[in-house]
Parts: sequence; structure tokens; C-alpha cells
Amino acid sequence: MKVLFLNGPNLNLLGTREPGTYGKTTLAEIEAMVKERAAKRGIEVEFRQSNSEGDLVTWIQQALGSFSAIVLNAGAYTHTSVALRDAISAVGIPVIEVHLSNVHAREEFRHRSLIAPVCRGQIVGFGPFGYILALEAAVNINGR
Ligand code: DQA
Repeated sequence: MKVLFLNGPNLNLLGTREPGTYGKTTLAEIEAMVKERAAKRGIEVEFRQSNSEGDLVTWIQQALGSFSAIVLNAGAYTHTSVALRDAISAVGIPVIEVHLSNVHAREEFRHRSLIAPVCRGQIVGFGPFGYILALEAAVNINGR
């Protein structure tokens, strides 16, 4: 079983970006944490980050046949991207939407996710631990 973790715009800045909202943990540290848990469960994970919407769309398309689930923190594209939503619908791989912050407790424009209706579920507000929860959800979805 292989799970693809995709991270969108500005998530490369975690650690220094608005620490009051996103905490001080870097994306590399989240990756290490997830990989440690995945190793214990005998699961392969791959982590990627891009600031470009097109990269995320391409990676979702290419995941077909190679990954059994995708964990996606699409950052701000969550609230704007029809292209990401269409890519998720097109591949049919289960996608778990993750946000570090509780987007529903923030500005109104963050309350709407264009991708939520085509994702299996949404994990928000638990900080980096949300990525571990998403890994567990991916395992559960795949019946392991
Ligand atoms: C985020 C929430 C988004 O609204 C925001 O644009 C981000 C980060 C989160 O993880 O909390 O870039 O996806």
C-alpha cells in the first residue's frame, strides 16, 4: 500500500509562516513524523509540495495505478480550484482533505472547500497530527 501526500502553496513555509495559526513544525518534520508512523504500519508514503496548481493536478492524475490513497492539503487552492476538484473526480482514488488550522473557525472565504464534495472526508484543526489521522484514514479506507 502506498499513500501520496500532496501539499499546496505556501506549505513549504511551515515553521515560520504565521506560527500562531499553523504552529512551528516544518513540513519536513511533518513528513518525518508521518514516515515514522507509516514504517510501523508497513506502508509506503511519498511527500510532495508545490506552489503551482498545475503540479498538483498532474500529480493527482499520475497517482492512478501507483497510489491507493491521496492525502491532500491544497492550501488556498482548496477554496478556489475547480481544476483540483475535477482531477480528484477524474482519478477516483480516495482523497483525504487535510488542513492544519480549523478553516471553519477562520475567515468566511475559508469555510467553503471546492474539493470537499469529491473527497472521502476532511480532517481540520488538529495541526500536524491531522496528517497522522489522515494516514490512519487511508489505511482504514483500504481495509488494512
Ligand atoms: C490551510 C488552510 C488554508 O485556508 C490556507 O490557505 C493554507 C493552509 C491549512 O492547512 O490550515 O494555506 O490549508
